[in-house]
Amino acid sequence: MLTARLRLVGLDIYSPPVLPRPLIERYAAHLPITASTPRLTLGEGDTPLVRAPALEARTGIAQVWLKVEGQNPTGSFKDRGMVVAVAKAVEGGARAVLCASTGNTAASAAAYAARAGLRCVVLLPEGQVALGKLAQAEVFGARVLSLQGSFDDALRVARELAADGVAALVNSVNPHRIEGQKTAAFEICEALGDAPEALCIPVGNAGNITAYWKGFREATEARMARRRPRMWGFQAAGAAPIVEGRRVERPDTVATAIRIGNPASWEGALRARDESRGAIEAVSDEEILAAYALLASREGIFCEPASAASVAGLLKRAATGVLEGAEVVVCVLTGSGLKDPDAARRLARAPERVAATAAAVRDRVFASAVV
Ligand SMILES: Cc1ncc(COP(=O)(O)O)c(C=O)c1O
Repeated sequence: MLTARLRLVGLDIYSPPVLPRPLIERYAAHLPITASTPRLTLGEGDTPLVRAPALEARTGIAQVWLKVEGQNPTGSFKDRGMVVAVAKAVEGGARAVLCASTGNTAASAAAYAARAGLRCVVLLPEGQVALGKLAQAEVFGARVLSLQGSFDDALRVARELAADGVAALVNSVNPHRIEGQKTAAFEICEALGDAPEALCIPVGNAGNITAYWKGFREATEARMARRRPRMWGFQAAGAAPIVEGRRVERPDTVATAIRIGNPASWEGALRARDESRGAIEAVSDEEILAAYALLASREGIFCEPASAASVAGLLKRAATGVLEGAEVVVCVLTGSGLKDPDAARRLARAPERVAATAAAVRDRVFASAVV
């Protein structure tokens, strides 16, 4: 109708809309997708890659980019893998999905299960889950159980239950999760025209670093990239089993998403580190919170504390002179800052009370400004 009318007035400007393609369709050739896999989507993937001038100035690196995964539908990178895992669960005839989670996996599983019409059960470590993530899982209708133990305990229980066949396990030990998550590496290569020279990434259960490395390997095979990046993974100092080379019984960090003492994909992380000639290192909570505040106040990007571990690690490497000549670096910001309002409130000042007049606001804020 509109097209016809525009033609009548001599304006041949209408072109049909280019609809966004669901992640599992866009990368079907690289994913375990069959004709009978449902084309499930909530609009995941295709997240922004944002240049970071303040980080470039601080580190002296020519190009620093941030992969803003908090802009996925449920606010974290988990959606990339979850869409594939839940679609495959539906294809396989599952009626329910199950996961252990520090919060983001639970939020994502609950959303995709709701969309696909499956039941969802999530096991969370008691008292260690950020408020926003808990709220998401509940509102999406998951059955939320608070386990009296750590994330590692919750994953053990979930694996045991899944082995009994009660539900499909959608933690990153499910290979479909890794397949979906590797698409972030493809997107980075497409955006930059090649892989970066180094990729900085937080490491918790180590599924994501495993997935990215698989993605970069496949990207070179598929000629999406000529090189592969060094993989620089960062754990929180109080939860750094891979760095220390031993399980951590009581992991502790402000970055609750990576408070994990016995990563399920430990081997995958070592492989990514060694094959890429990269490193897995620890950053303190102070370094994580400094990077978190810097990202918000200088780059305008609000991520969650665990995500800031990637930037904390990059800043630490720059300060200690171990950038190894990297000129193009990508830091993965895994989740949105809105997930963890308590972490933000600990850093932020409470709003000042002021009378509801222009004069009062002027006196308080602009009194010394030259107009
Ligand atoms: C925001 C955020 N960042 C990083 C991670 C760590 O990812 P992985 O457990 O795959 O290493 C998680 C895991 O829950 C997360 O939620």
